[in-house]
Amino acid sequence: SKVKMVVDKEFRIAEIDERIYGSFIEHLGRAVYDGIYSPEHETADEHGFRGDVKDLIRELNVPIIRYPGGNFVSSFNWEDSVGPLNERPRRLELAWKSIEENKVGLNEFTKWTRDVGSDVMMAVNLGTRGIADACNILEYCNHKGNTKYSDLRISHGYKEPHNIKTWCLGNEMDGPWQLGHKTMEEYGRLAEETARAMKLIDPTIELVSCGSSSLTMPTFPDWEAVTLQHTYDHVDYVSMHQYYGNQKGDTEDFLACSDDMDEFIRTVIATCDYVKAKKRSKKEIKISFDEWNVWYHSNAADNDITENHPWQIAPPMLEDIYTFEDALLVGLMLITMLKHADRVKMACLAQLVNVIAPIMTEAGGGAAWKQTIFYPFMHASKYGRGTALLPVISTPKFDTATHANVTAVEAVPVYNEEKGEVTIFAVNRSIKEDAEMTIDMRSFEGYQVLEHTVLECDDLQAVNGPFNQKVAPKETSQSVIDGGIVTSKLNKASWNVIRLG
Ligand code: AHR
Repeated sequence: SKVKMVVDKEFRIAEIDERIYGSFIEHLGRAVYDGIYSPEHETADEHGFRGDVKDLIRELNVPIIRYPGGNFVSSFNWEDSVGPLNERPRRLELAWKSIEENKVGLNEFTKWTRDVGSDVMMAVNLGTRGIADACNILEYCNHKGNTKYSDLRISHGYKEPHNIKTWCLGNEMDGPWQLGHKTMEEYGRLAEETARAMKLIDPTIELVSCGSSSLTMPTFPDWEAVTLQHTYDHVDYVSMHQYYGNQKGDTEDFLACSDDMDEFIRTVIATCDYVKAKKRSKKEIKISFDEWNVWYHSNAADNDITENHPWQIAPPMLEDIYTFEDALLVGLMLITMLKHADRVKMACLAQLVNVIAPIMTEAGGGAAWKQTIFYPFMHASKYGRGTALLPVISTPKFDTATHANVTAVEAVPVYNEEKGEVTIFAVNRSIKEDAEMTIDMRSFEGYQVLEHTVLECDDLQAVNGPFNQKVAPKETSQSVIDGGIVTSKLNKASWNVIRLG
């Protein structure tokens, strides 16, 4: 098929906030124990954190990491996770029916996060706890000293405050599965009062109000409209979460799911702006898309663990092994968020290690390895910094089982003015036809093609493993420029990174 695109340096969407390349570590499965933390591992540092896993995270260049949950946070007592190791309790962890030994807690995690070049996005428990506990943990983390909780931190060996800037007011409080699940009125009031109190302690923090757990929640979008009427003046972001899966084995329909994500974002923006108008406010609420990914391969195994084998330490849960087509959808979801760079200011690929993750470790301390989805995320994080430009594209469209007018090619250009580079991320989501794309780049005088990297595979269901990188990017010479016009071949079912400078 034939596709046309115009990329112009004046067609700007917005400056990209690098925090859209954030990720997430929850105390769940083998994310922490046997994932980032494994004192017996040959690469472990003096605190027990794996060096090889840190290196892979640095390769992804993740600016912010959400912690400690997820569903986990809604029954978490943060006090259990600090202080001398031998005094920390073993607890029943109710969200995932596991045993939590608290060998890694908020201090160790914060230190580790800085070591991998990231900041912490901390979540407070608004499920089984409330305002007082949220204030206490904030005082512990961010207050300098001379108060009960800041002195407690100092007595634990952390003289300097952690200065954690970003805080989530609970997690998925609209979900009936959530410990301490709330109605929108209940959550709106609690989040409002918690936010007010927290900002008294530290006015420099940024707060995230819980949005809907997915586009299909029965309370969406009333949840946003009602809760934001309470929290609007006190918070900076509303959260969005979304996972997709190819349960029906219909690849074209699966790859069209990023269109649903786009609709979800547009509706949340509209709802935020509706509340803004109602309040006659000048303030604009931004989006923290703090859980997104493909998640479905492990569902049956996970149910078996929680139903038939509960109360294990670090059981292998949510260990989705990602296919090549999953990597294409991850690429499409990244493009979708970049197209909304004016409102989506933070995002967290859920999650980072072992649990629905780009990075896996072999059980019991073997190798660390890269899943298929590692690559599109790495490319976007590496080259998707600067200004998102409007993708003006004409492309063939088709219908799939549950989607209409699905574009064959989805793309977004990013202009890195400082480096004098433009990167075009493009997915050909047709699984039948290659695309010939011409890109008018005449506003970028003298630019040459630096490289065209592609992720493709004949087998849409191909997966990687500890000693098998069947799905890995390669360089092509499928893009040439002449007189400011780029001609690119985008093979069917492919993720493309075309760099010019
Ligand atoms: O990321 C896995 C889980 O998905 C999180 O704990 C929860 O917030 C969401 O439902």
